[in-house]
Amino acid sequence: MGNFVEYIDLKRDYITRRDEYLDAIDLVCQKAQYVDGEFVRQFESEFAAYCGVPFVSCVNSGTNAILLSMLATGIQSGDEVIIPANTFVATAWGPVYAGAKPVFVDCNPETWQIDPASIEKAVTPRTRAVIGVHLYGLPFDIDAVRAVTQRYGLLLIEDCAQAHGATYKGRPVGGLCDAGCFSFYPTKNLGAFGEAGCVATADSAVAQKIDSLKNHAADIGGDHSEIGFNMRMDGIQAAVLSVRLKNLDALNTRRRAIAQRYSEEIVNPLIQKQSVPEQKRHVYHLYVVTVDDRDAFMRHLAAKKVGCAIHYSIPCHLQKVFSHLGYKPGDLPNAEYVSGHCVSLPMYPELFDGEIDRVIEACNSYQGGYRL
Ligand SMILES: Cc1ncc(COP(=O)(O)O)c(C=O)c1O
Repeated sequence: MGNFVEYIDLKRDYITRRDEYLDAIDLVCQKAQYVDGEFVRQFESEFAAYCGVPFVSCVNSGTNAILLSMLATGIQSGDEVIIPANTFVATAWGPVYAGAKPVFVDCNPETWQIDPASIEKAVTPRTRAVIGVHLYGLPFDIDAVRAVTQRYGLLLIEDCAQAHGATYKGRPVGGLCDAGCFSFYPTKNLGAFGEAGCVATADSAVAQKIDSLKNHAADIGGDHSEIGFNMRMDGIQAAVLSVRLKNLDALNTRRRAIAQRYSEEIVNPLIQKQSVPEQKRHVYHLYVVTVDDRDAFMRHLAAKKVGCAIHYSIPCHLQKVFSHLGYKPGDLPNAEYVSGHCVSLPMYPELFDGEIDRVIEACNSYQGGYRL
């Protein structure tokens, strides 16, 4: 058996494109465009063109992208914002920071994406918005969710943190709803060399508001008529992202090829896969499976020297931080099943073919829980 198959290894990409990255960073330093500035503007226009949206406003994390999308669309204290329970908890921070109440809903048991029927049941007179998450890189069912948001006059925000380059009915995510929030955390499909994020939108008022809020909400003339933030993006992150954006489609194609091998060649009936509806281009930020006895499966992978991870072990509605909201186990059964049984397999473009073989072999040789 060979070396350990790392769950993720970001160093491989750096080694391959080191000169390109260092040249881009050097230029930022030569021009001393460290915060915001011309490299950020450049990346904003490149990413706007990529997503097919008129406006992109870069910020310093995906979490803050969601927060500013909430503030810029008028979400405030007392409002309710509907969110899938099976997502990274950061999806909920934006509404919470804005003073709103997160209302968690269930997912579809096959696609693991936010369930439109569960949304509809959760709507109250205080509901103002839904945040749909393109979880693991698979677009959520935008048309069905939009049918609900339109029926009740709600905003629809996309959390695209895991889905750069994914498409829904041929159109890239991020520009399909009222605003699209991206994270460029280093492990993402489009990752910076530190913290970074952005909001994409077709609404010029929303874009202008975010541009202002992230930059201390400074009015012309130096006055400040509202509370602002320092949430600007660094020039170095933008320059790195411009380099990486050029390769995004090729890297996503490689992720999809790896996923296709996993989907076709992992044939163990003890392992269930995410179902991928037609008309959606999944970009496999993560390749997640579910297994009844997760602990046994993870022990088996470790014995085979294959890395893995869990996304996410506790659904948002059962997190301690939200215990005051009164949810209990059993409230959102599909999300709870996924949380209790999901395992993320190694998935990054630089995986070697021999390593992919090893992951497949390890999955197929799993025989269920060990018995004493
Ligand atoms: C679904 C989802 N939403 C939001 C975020 C937050 O992004 P960031 O880590 O850039 O703040 C992440 C990133 O981990 C995420 O996966």
